[in-house]
Amino acid sequence: MLVEVLRAWDGEEVVASYDHLSDTWIFACIHSTALGPAGGGTRMKTYADPSDALRDAMRLAAAMTMKMAAVDLPFGGAKAVLAVSGPIEGESRRRLLLEYGRLVASLGGTFVTGPDVNTSPTDMDVIAERCPYVVCRSAERGGSGDPGPHTARGVFHGIRATAKQVFGSADLNGRTVLVQGLGDVGAPLAEQLAAEGAKLLVSDLSTERVRRIAERNPVQVIPADEVIGTECDIYVPCALGGTLNAETIPRLRCRAVAGSANNQLGEPEDGQRLSDAGIVYAPDFVINAGGVLYAWGLESLGWSRETIESKHAGIGDKLTEIYRRSAEEGISTSEAAEQLAKARLGASQKALA
Ligand code: PHE
Repeated sequence: MLVEVLRAWDGEEVVASYDHLSDTWIFACIHSTALGPAGGGTRMKTYADPSDALRDAMRLAAAMTMKMAAVDLPFGGAKAVLAVSGPIEGESRRRLLLEYGRLVASLGGTFVTGPDVNTSPTDMDVIAERCPYVVCRSAERGGSGDPGPHTARGVFHGIRATAKQVFGSADLNGRTVLVQGLGDVGAPLAEQLAAEGAKLLVSDLSTERVRRIAERNPVQVIPADEVIGTECDIYVPCALGGTLNAETIPRLRCRAVAGSANNQLGEPEDGQRLSDAGIVYAPDFVINAGGVLYAWGLESLGWSRETIESKHAGIGDKLTEIYRRSAEEGISTSEAAEQLAKARLGASQKALA
Protein backbone atom coordinates (compact mmCIF):
# COMPACT_ATOMS: atom_id res chain seq x y z
CA MET A 1 0.00 0.00 0.00
CA LEU A 2 2.71 2.47 1.03
CA VAL A 3 4.66 1.47 -2.06
CA GLU A 4 1.79 2.34 -4.39
CA VAL A 5 1.26 5.68 -2.70
CA LEU A 6 4.98 6.45 -3.09
CA ARG A 7 5.04 5.44 -6.73
CA ALA A 8 2.07 7.65 -7.62
CA TRP A 9 3.60 10.86 -6.26
CA ASP A 10 4.93 13.67 -8.43
CA GLY A 11 7.21 15.09 -5.70
CA GLU A 12 10.98 14.86 -5.34
CA GLU A 13 11.66 12.84 -2.22
CA VAL A 14 10.04 11.08 0.71
CA VAL A 15 11.94 10.14 3.84
CA ALA A 16 10.12 7.64 6.00
CA SER A 17 11.00 6.40 9.43
CA TYR A 18 9.27 4.40 12.13
CA ASP A 19 9.85 5.18 15.80
CA HIS A 20 9.30 1.95 17.75
CA LEU A 21 9.27 3.44 21.21
CA SER A 22 6.28 5.69 20.51
CA ASP A 23 4.75 3.67 17.65
CA THR A 24 5.00 6.68 15.34
CA TRP A 25 5.38 6.79 11.57
CA ILE A 26 7.35 9.79 10.34
CA PHE A 27 6.99 10.96 6.74
CA ALA A 28 8.92 13.97 5.47
CA CYS A 29 7.78 14.77 1.93
CA ILE A 30 9.81 17.16 -0.17
CA HIS A 31 7.59 18.08 -3.07
CA SER A 32 9.73 20.61 -4.92
CA THR A 33 12.99 22.47 -4.53
CA ALA A 34 12.68 24.18 -7.92
CA LEU A 35 12.39 27.64 -6.35
CA GLY A 36 14.68 27.02 -3.35
CA PRO A 37 14.94 24.95 -0.16
CA ALA A 38 11.60 23.30 0.56
CA GLY A 39 9.63 24.80 3.46
CA GLY A 40 6.70 23.25 5.26
CA GLY A 41 5.26 22.59 8.66
CA THR A 42 5.36 19.44 10.76
CA ARG A 43 1.93 18.08 11.58
CA MET A 44 1.21 15.70 14.45
CA LYS A 45 -1.90 13.63 14.01
CA THR A 46 -3.36 10.18 14.44
CA TYR A 47 -4.37 8.37 11.26
CA ALA A 48 -6.26 5.13 10.70
CA ASP A 49 -3.41 3.77 8.58
CA PRO A 50 0.18 4.89 7.81
CA SER A 51 -0.72 5.14 4.11
CA ASP A 52 -3.34 7.80 5.00
CA ALA A 53 -0.63 9.75 6.83
CA LEU A 54 1.71 9.51 3.86
CA ARG A 55 -1.00 10.58 1.42
CA ASP A 56 -1.90 13.55 3.65
CA ALA A 57 1.74 14.62 3.93
CA MET A 58 2.16 14.39 0.16
CA ARG A 59 -0.89 16.50 -0.62
CA LEU A 60 0.06 19.07 2.00
CA ALA A 61 3.62 19.22 0.63
CA ALA A 62 2.33 19.84 -2.90
CA ALA A 63 0.13 22.64 -1.53
CA MET A 64 3.22 24.22 0.07
CA THR A 65 4.94 24.31 -3.34
CA MET A 66 1.92 26.15 -4.75
CA LYS A 67 1.78 28.49 -1.76
CA MET A 68 5.43 29.54 -1.93
CA ALA A 69 5.19 30.01 -5.70
CA ALA A 70 1.89 31.90 -5.60
CA VAL A 71 3.25 34.57 -3.24
CA ASP A 72 6.65 34.80 -4.96
CA LEU A 73 8.77 33.35 -2.16
CA PRO A 74 12.13 31.85 -3.19
CA PHE A 75 11.37 28.48 -1.56
CA GLY A 76 10.01 25.10 -2.49
CA GLY A 77 7.31 23.05 -0.79
CA ALA A 78 7.43 20.21 1.73
CA LYS A 79 5.53 18.85 4.70
CA ALA A 80 6.16 16.31 7.41
CA VAL A 81 3.69 14.25 9.34
CA LEU A 82 4.34 12.58 12.68
CA ALA A 83 1.62 9.96 12.65
CA VAL A 84 1.34 9.28 16.37
CA SER A 85 -0.77 6.47 17.77
CA GLY A 86 -2.33 8.80 20.37
CA PRO A 87 -1.70 12.04 22.28
CA ILE A 88 1.96 12.34 23.23
CA GLU A 89 3.28 14.79 25.83
CA GLY A 90 6.18 15.42 28.21
CA GLU A 91 9.37 13.38 27.94
CA SER A 92 8.06 11.02 25.26
CA ARG A 93 7.08 13.94 23.06
CA ARG A 94 10.51 15.49 23.55
CA ARG A 95 12.27 12.24 22.71
CA LEU A 96 10.22 11.79 19.54
CA LEU A 97 10.90 15.37 18.43
CA LEU A 98 14.65 14.94 19.01
CA GLU A 99 14.56 11.77 16.94
CA TYR A 100 12.66 13.63 14.24
CA GLY A 101 15.16 16.52 14.49
CA ARG A 102 17.90 14.06 13.60
CA LEU A 103 15.99 13.09 10.47
CA VAL A 104 15.53 16.76 9.48
CA ALA A 105 19.26 17.32 10.12
CA SER A 106 20.14 14.46 7.79
CA LEU A 107 18.44 16.32 4.92
CA GLY A 108 21.08 19.02 5.21
CA GLY A 109 18.74 22.00 4.73
CA THR A 110 16.79 20.86 1.67
CA PHE A 111 13.85 20.79 4.07
CA VAL A 112 13.15 23.62 6.53
CA THR A 113 10.26 23.04 8.89
CA GLY A 114 7.95 24.96 11.20
CA PRO A 115 4.73 24.45 13.20
CA ASP A 116 1.49 23.04 11.83
CA VAL A 117 -1.58 21.33 13.29
CA ASN A 118 -0.69 20.11 16.83
CA THR A 119 2.88 21.40 16.90
CA SER A 120 4.04 24.65 18.49
CA PRO A 121 7.05 26.97 18.79
CA THR A 122 8.09 25.00 21.90
CA ASP A 123 8.19 21.84 19.77
CA MET A 124 10.30 23.72 17.22
CA ASP A 125 12.75 24.60 20.03
CA VAL A 126 13.25 20.88 20.62
CA ILE A 127 13.76 20.05 16.93
CA ALA A 128 16.23 22.96 16.78
CA GLU A 129 18.40 21.18 19.36
CA ARG A 130 19.29 18.78 16.54
CA CYS A 131 19.46 21.05 13.49
CA PRO A 132 19.18 24.69 12.38
CA TYR A 133 16.54 23.99 9.71
CA VAL A 134 13.59 25.26 11.74
CA VAL A 135 11.52 28.47 11.69
CA CYS A 136 9.12 29.71 14.37
CA ARG A 137 11.06 28.67 17.45
CA SER A 138 9.77 30.47 20.54
CA ALA A 139 10.64 34.15 20.91
CA GLU A 140 12.77 33.33 24.01
CA ARG A 141 14.96 31.16 21.80
CA GLY A 142 15.26 33.84 19.16
CA GLY A 143 12.57 32.45 16.85
CA SER A 144 9.61 34.23 15.27
CA GLY A 145 7.10 32.43 17.50
CA ASP A 146 3.55 31.37 16.64
CA PRO A 147 2.76 32.08 12.96
CA GLY A 148 -1.01 31.70 13.57
CA PRO A 149 -1.91 35.38 14.10
CA HIS A 150 0.12 36.29 11.01
CA THR A 151 -1.61 33.70 8.88
CA ALA A 152 -4.82 35.25 10.22
CA ARG A 153 -3.68 38.71 9.12
CA GLY A 154 -3.23 37.48 5.55
CA VAL A 155 -6.63 35.76 5.62
CA PHE A 156 -8.18 38.98 6.90
CA HIS A 157 -6.85 40.91 3.89
CA GLY A 158 -8.01 38.05 1.68
CA ILE A 159 -11.53 38.19 3.11
CA ARG A 160 -11.69 41.92 2.45
CA ALA A 161 -10.61 41.44 -1.17
CA THR A 162 -13.17 38.66 -1.54
CA ALA A 163 -15.95 40.84 -0.08
CA LYS A 164 -15.00 43.56 -2.56
CA GLN A 165 -15.29 41.04 -5.38
CA VAL A 166 -18.68 39.70 -4.28
CA PHE A 167 -20.39 42.72 -2.74
CA GLY A 168 -18.53 45.62 -4.35
CA SER A 169 -17.12 46.76 -1.01
CA ALA A 170 -14.31 45.45 1.18
CA ASP A 171 -16.04 46.81 4.28
CA LEU A 172 -16.93 43.93 6.60
CA ASN A 173 -19.19 45.94 8.85
CA GLY A 174 -22.48 44.05 9.14
CA ARG A 175 -21.35 41.12 6.97
CA THR A 176 -22.19 37.69 8.30
CA VAL A 177 -19.00 35.67 8.54
CA LEU A 178 -18.90 32.05 9.68
CA VAL A 179 -15.54 31.02 11.16
CA GLN A 180 -15.15 27.25 11.43
CA GLY A 181 -12.31 26.31 13.79
CA LEU A 182 -11.03 28.63 16.50
CA GLY A 183 -7.45 27.44 16.73
CA ASP A 184 -4.17 29.26 16.21
CA VAL A 185 -5.49 31.00 13.08
CA GLY A 186 -9.28 30.99 13.55
CA ALA A 187 -9.25 32.59 17.00
CA PRO A 188 -7.15 35.69 16.18
CA LEU A 189 -9.00 36.00 12.87
CA ALA A 190 -12.38 35.98 14.61
CA GLU A 191 -11.17 38.81 16.87
CA GLN A 192 -10.10 40.92 13.88
CA LEU A 193 -13.38 40.29 12.07
CA ALA A 194 -15.35 41.28 15.16
CA ALA A 195 -13.29 44.46 15.48
CA GLU A 196 -14.32 45.34 11.90
CA GLY A 197 -17.97 45.00 12.82
CA ALA A 198 -18.61 41.67 11.12
CA LYS A 199 -21.51 39.61 12.45
CA LEU A 200 -19.66 36.54 13.73
CA LEU A 201 -20.90 32.99 13.57
CA VAL A 202 -18.43 30.53 15.07
CA SER A 203 -18.04 26.80 15.36
CA ASP A 204 -15.49 24.57 17.08
CA LEU A 205 -15.55 21.06 18.49
CA SER A 206 -14.00 22.45 21.67
CA THR A 207 -16.51 24.30 23.87
CA GLU A 208 -13.54 25.86 25.69
CA ARG A 209 -12.30 27.55 22.50
CA VAL A 210 -15.79 28.79 21.72
CA ARG A 211 -16.15 30.13 25.25
CA ARG A 212 -12.89 32.10 25.00
CA ILE A 213 -14.10 33.96 21.88
CA ALA A 214 -17.69 34.31 23.06
CA GLU A 215 -16.54 35.89 26.31
CA ARG A 216 -15.05 38.84 24.47
CA ASN A 217 -17.22 39.17 21.35
CA PRO A 218 -20.89 38.92 20.44
CA VAL A 219 -21.11 35.65 18.54
CA GLN A 220 -23.67 33.13 17.44
CA VAL A 221 -22.47 29.56 18.02
CA ILE A 222 -23.14 27.03 15.24
CA PRO A 223 -23.03 23.28 15.99
CA ALA A 224 -20.27 21.53 14.01
CA ASP A 225 -22.69 19.49 11.89
CA GLU A 226 -24.69 22.56 10.86
CA VAL A 227 -21.81 24.66 9.51
CA ILE A 228 -22.23 23.69 5.87
CA GLY A 229 -25.97 24.45 5.65
CA THR A 230 -25.84 27.70 7.61
CA GLU A 231 -26.71 30.88 5.74
CA CYS A 232 -23.92 33.49 5.78
CA ASP A 233 -22.12 35.94 3.51
CA ILE A 234 -18.68 34.37 3.82
CA TYR A 235 -17.77 30.89 5.03
CA VAL A 236 -14.28 30.83 6.56
CA PRO A 237 -12.91 27.28 7.03
CA CYS A 238 -10.05 27.40 9.55
CA ALA A 239 -10.13 23.81 10.80
CA LEU A 240 -8.92 20.75 8.92
CA GLY A 241 -9.25 20.55 5.13
CA GLY A 242 -11.59 18.66 2.82
CA THR A 243 -14.81 20.46 3.79
CA LEU A 244 -15.61 21.40 0.17
CA ASN A 245 -16.69 18.42 -1.89
CA ALA A 246 -19.40 17.04 -4.17
CA GLU A 247 -21.64 16.34 -1.18
CA THR A 248 -21.20 19.64 0.72
CA ILE A 249 -20.99 22.22 -2.08
CA PRO A 250 -24.68 21.92 -3.11
CA ARG A 251 -25.65 22.51 0.53
CA LEU A 252 -23.59 25.68 1.04
CA ARG A 253 -25.63 28.83 1.64
CA CYS A 254 -22.85 31.41 1.38
CA ARG A 255 -21.67 33.78 -1.34
CA ALA A 256 -17.97 33.15 -0.82
CA VAL A 257 -15.49 30.78 0.83
CA ALA A 258 -12.33 32.40 2.20
CA GLY A 259 -10.50 30.64 5.03
CA SER A 260 -7.13 29.37 6.18
CA ALA A 261 -7.43 25.57 6.17
CA ASN A 262 -5.03 23.72 3.88
CA ASN A 263 -6.46 21.51 1.12
CA GLN A 264 -10.05 22.66 1.44
CA LEU A 265 -11.12 21.04 -1.83
CA GLY A 266 -11.82 17.31 -1.57
CA GLU A 267 -10.69 16.94 -5.20
CA PRO A 268 -9.57 19.40 -7.91
CA GLU A 269 -13.02 19.33 -9.61
CA ASP A 270 -14.52 20.96 -6.52
CA GLY A 271 -13.05 24.28 -7.68
CA GLN A 272 -15.31 24.15 -10.73
CA ARG A 273 -18.25 22.92 -8.61
CA LEU A 274 -17.96 26.06 -6.45
CA SER A 275 -17.76 28.22 -9.53
CA ASP A 276 -20.85 26.56 -11.01
CA ALA A 277 -22.69 27.15 -7.74
CA GLY A 278 -21.93 30.87 -8.04
CA ILE A 279 -19.70 30.85 -4.96
CA VAL A 280 -16.45 32.82 -5.04
CA TYR A 281 -13.66 30.64 -3.66
CA ALA A 282 -10.43 32.18 -2.37
CA PRO A 283 -7.87 29.46 -3.22
CA ASP A 284 -6.53 28.16 0.09
CA PHE A 285 -2.85 28.16 -0.79
CA VAL A 286 -3.01 31.87 -1.64
CA ILE A 287 -5.19 33.22 1.17
CA ASN A 288 -3.35 31.23 3.85
CA ALA A 289 0.18 32.25 2.84
CA GLY A 290 0.47 34.91 5.57
CA GLY A 291 2.25 32.52 7.94
CA VAL A 292 5.01 31.59 5.52
CA LEU A 293 5.42 35.22 4.43
CA TYR A 294 5.89 36.09 8.08
CA ALA A 295 8.13 33.23 9.21
CA TRP A 296 10.37 32.89 6.19
CA GLY A 297 10.27 36.64 5.51
CA LEU A 298 11.47 37.47 9.00
CA GLU A 299 13.86 34.59 9.59
CA SER A 300 15.30 33.90 6.12
CA LEU A 301 14.85 37.05 4.09
CA GLY A 302 15.43 39.68 6.78
CA TRP A 303 12.15 41.50 6.12
CA SER A 304 10.98 44.25 8.48
CA ARG A 305 7.54 44.18 10.16
CA GLU A 306 6.40 46.88 7.70
CA THR A 307 7.45 44.79 4.71
CA ILE A 308 5.59 41.80 6.14
CA GLU A 309 2.41 43.83 6.62
CA SER A 310 2.59 45.03 3.03
CA LYS A 311 3.09 41.42 1.87
CA HIS A 312 0.02 40.43 3.88
CA ALA A 313 -1.99 43.18 2.20
CA GLY A 314 -0.54 41.83 -1.08
CA ILE A 315 -2.48 38.60 -0.51
CA GLY A 316 -5.63 40.65 -1.10
CA ASP A 317 -4.19 42.05 -4.34
CA LYS A 318 -3.15 38.58 -5.46
CA LEU A 319 -6.71 37.31 -4.95
CA THR A 320 -8.14 40.29 -6.82
CA GLU A 321 -5.90 39.41 -9.74
CA ILE A 322 -7.01 35.76 -9.54
CA TYR A 323 -10.70 36.78 -9.53
CA ARG A 324 -10.12 39.01 -12.56
CA ARG A 325 -8.37 36.22 -14.49
CA SER A 326 -11.02 33.73 -13.54
CA ALA A 327 -13.74 36.02 -14.92
CA GLU A 328 -11.79 36.95 -18.05
CA GLU A 329 -10.83 33.42 -18.96
CA GLY A 330 -13.99 31.68 -17.79
CA ILE A 331 -12.06 29.37 -15.46
CA SER A 332 -12.56 28.63 -11.77
CA THR A 333 -10.63 30.70 -9.25
CA SER A 334 -8.69 27.61 -8.12
CA GLU A 335 -7.67 26.96 -11.73
CA ALA A 336 -6.58 30.60 -12.09
CA ALA A 337 -4.49 30.36 -8.92
CA GLU A 338 -2.87 27.10 -10.05
CA GLN A 339 -1.97 28.68 -13.37
CA LEU A 340 -0.40 31.64 -11.59
CA ALA A 341 1.75 29.42 -9.35
CA LYS A 342 2.65 27.03 -12.14
CA ALA A 343 3.75 29.90 -14.38
CA ARG A 344 6.32 30.80 -11.75
CA LEU A 345 7.43 27.21 -11.33
CA GLY A 346 7.61 26.80 -15.11
CA ALA A 347 9.72 29.94 -15.47
CA SER A 348 12.18 28.59 -12.91
CA GLN A 349 12.44 25.27 -14.78
CA LYS A 350 13.29 27.19 -17.92
CA ALA A 351 15.93 29.16 -16.04
CA LEU A 352 17.50 25.86 -14.95
CA ALA A 353 17.45 24.31 -18.42
N1 PHE B 1 1.59 25.30 8.67
C1 PHE B 1 1.97 26.31 7.77
C2 PHE B 1 1.18 26.31 6.50
O1 PHE B 1 0.50 25.36 6.20
C3 PHE B 1 3.40 26.17 7.39
C4 PHE B 1 4.18 27.15 8.15
C5 PHE B 1 5.21 26.73 8.88
C6 PHE B 1 3.83 28.46 8.12
C7 PHE B 1 5.91 27.63 9.61
C8 PHE B 1 4.54 29.35 8.85
C9 PHE B 1 5.59 28.93 9.57
O2 PHE B 1 1.22 27.27 5.76
